[in-house]
Order: sequence, then structure tokens, then C-alpha cells
Amino acid sequence: MKSLGILVYILVAIQVSTDDIPTTLSVPWLVHLRFTRLSLRGKLDTCVGALYNNRWVLTAASCLMEDIEGYNITSRYIWSRFDTKHVFTPGFVIESSDVITHPQFDPITLENNLGLLDLNRSIEFTDKIQPIALAESDDGPPSSGFACGYGEKDGKFGEDLFCANVTVTEADGLLIAQSSVNASKYDFGAALVSDGKVHGILVRAADDNSAGAFLPTSKFLSWIENVTIEKEPESEETLEVDDNDVLVAE
Ligand SMILES: *[C@@H]1O[C@H](CO)[C@@H](O)[C@H](O)[C@H]1NC(C)=O
Ligand SMILES: *[C@@H]1O[C@H](CO)[C@@H](O)[C@H](O)[C@H]1NC(C)=O
Ligand SMILES: *[C@@H]1O[C@H](CO)[C@@H](O)[C@H](O)[C@H]1NC(C)=O
Ligand SMILES: *[C@@H]1O[C@H](CO)[C@@H](O)[C@H](O)[C@H]1NC(C)=O
Ligand SMILES: *[C@@H]1O[C@H](CO)[C@@H](O)[C@H](O)[C@H]1NC(C)=O
Repeated sequence: MKSLGILVYILVAIQVSTDDIPTTLSVPWLVHLRFTRLSLRGKLDTCVGALYNNRWVLTAASCLMEDIEGYNITSRYIWSRFDTKHVFTPGFVIESSDVITHPQFDPITLENNLGLLDLNRSIEFTDKIQPIALAESDDGPPSSGFACGYGEKDGKFGEDLFCANVTVTEADGLLIAQSSVNASKYDFGAALVSDGKVHGILVRAADDNSAGAFLPTSKFLSWIENVTIEKEPESEETLEVDDNDVLVAE
């Protein structure tokens, strides 16, 4: 019995010694995104985004649109879930599928992987729901920061919000991250935050050389401002999809 007790103690010690920042950290701009994917036969997929103002969420375009046999298909159902420490208990949920992806976004190569989700209403800020500013071009790329997401667990999306410190270096037009925590595809859209501002959006999961990679938002500021300043943006639906193709699971 005594050895079992020691074993349990060691396992617990290993679990809590990870390098994550505790979720008591306040990240009120973080939006958990749930959406249907046609390529998953209408099943739900997961990403994260950052609340830019009272109406717009900044995320990766690949979370909003995908290539299906040469057509750019936007997600039919997207749920923005605010104040969500655990994915099963969101504080506040909005469904809106009005998306604008960067005009040079390529859903196959994932170049210019940046998109904006229009909540189509003005959401009320609280201490748990707050926007976050974008870094200006002359702020320069940071050498370190942190990013938050839900990660991957047993090949599925993770369930608990956590944040990880990262160091970043620039290469190939991206901010390449090193961290003790690996980013997964379910963390796409996660904001790289430094000095209280967004510097990048996660567009690549971990590989052998990095913990993930962020697209620098500073290069896209004028596009973001131009899109979000409009009052009634027109939806850019490219193809009619039969309703029967999409299963709503939430
Ligand atoms: C992450 O960075 C913050 C700010 O630099 C620091 O206070 C915190 O201790 C770091 N956490 C870890 C787990 O390294
Ligand atoms: C899909 O998007 C890419 C990149 O923006 C574009 O080059 C291509 O023409 C689009 N395809 C269709 C069918 O609209
Ligand atoms: C936006 O909201 C208005 C009502 O507030 C509604 O009539 C309109 O259809 C919505 N647009 C989209 C694209 O959901
Ligand atoms: C992150 O992923 C890489 C490549 O898959 C792997 O070699 C490395 O051990 C992982 N690191 C952690 C902390 O899980
Ligand atoms: C701003 O958006 C409008 C309409 O979408 C477009 O015609 C214009 O070229 C854009 N301007 C810039 C600077 O991106």
C-alpha cells in the first residue's frame, strides 16, 4: 500500500509540474470557436479567436473556410463561446457565420491565413469579456509572449483552457514559437500576446522544429481596420451548399 501511495504521489507531482500558466490568468478576449466542417461531414471542429472589438473576432481563415474540391466553402454554423475555461461550460455563446477571410488566403497552402468573424451584433463587455488591441507595425515583433488555447487530448480537442509562454523568432514571414507546450491544430487562431497586445495568430501546429507558428498581424492591420470599420459587410458566399449536407450537433 505504501508503495502505491508513493506512486500516486509521483503521478500527481508530474501532472502539476507542467509549464502551463494556471487558468486563473484572465484572458477575457479569448473566444472558443466551435464550427461545422463539410470535410468532416458536418461534424464539429474547434479553433480559438481573439475579440477585436464589440462585433468582430480575429482568427485563422482556415477556421472559417476550407477548400472542398476546388471550391472555397465557408463554415455554415460557427459558435463563438466567451468566458470559457472548460469547453463544456461556456459563459456566453453567439452563433454567427458571417465571415470575411483575407482576399489572398489560400485554403490549400494556408498562406495569408487570417480571417474575421462578424458577430452581427454589438456584444456587451464585462470583466470576463473584453477586446484586445493589435500591436502597431512600429511595435516590432516580440521576442516572447504567451498564447492560450485548449490543446489536444487523445487525438481530440482538449477541454481545459491553458496558456503557455513562448519565445519567438522570425522566419519565412512567420513568428516561429518555442515553448514547453506544443500547439495543436485545435489551437489555430490563438493570439500571440505580448505587452497586452496581439502580435500574431497561430497558423501552424507544432512540428519537429517548433512549438507552432504565428502569422504576424502587423502586416494585415490596414485590411483588418478596413473590414471592421464597415457597418454592413456583405457576406461572401461562394457556393450554395445543400442544407442536408450539414449536421447540426449543438
Ligand atoms: C510566463 O511569463 C510570465 C511573464 O513573463 C511569468 O510571470 C511567468 O512566471 C511565466 N510562467 C512560466 C510557467 O514560465
Ligand atoms: C479560393 O481562394 C483562392 C485564394 O483566395 C483563390 O485563388 C481561388 O480562386 C478561390 N477559388 C474559388 C473557386 O473561388
Ligand atoms: C444580422 O442581424 C440582423 C438582425 O439584427 C438580421 O436581420 C440579419 O439577417 C443578420 N445578418 C446575418 C448575416 O446573419
Ligand atoms: C512537441 O512536438 C514535437 C514534434 O512532434 C515533439 O518532438 C516534442 O517532443 C513535443 N514536445 C512536447 C513538450 O510535447
Ligand atoms: C477596403 O474595402 C473595400 C471594400 O471591401 C475595398 O474596395 C478596398 O479596396 C479596401 N481598401 C483597402 C485599403 O484594403
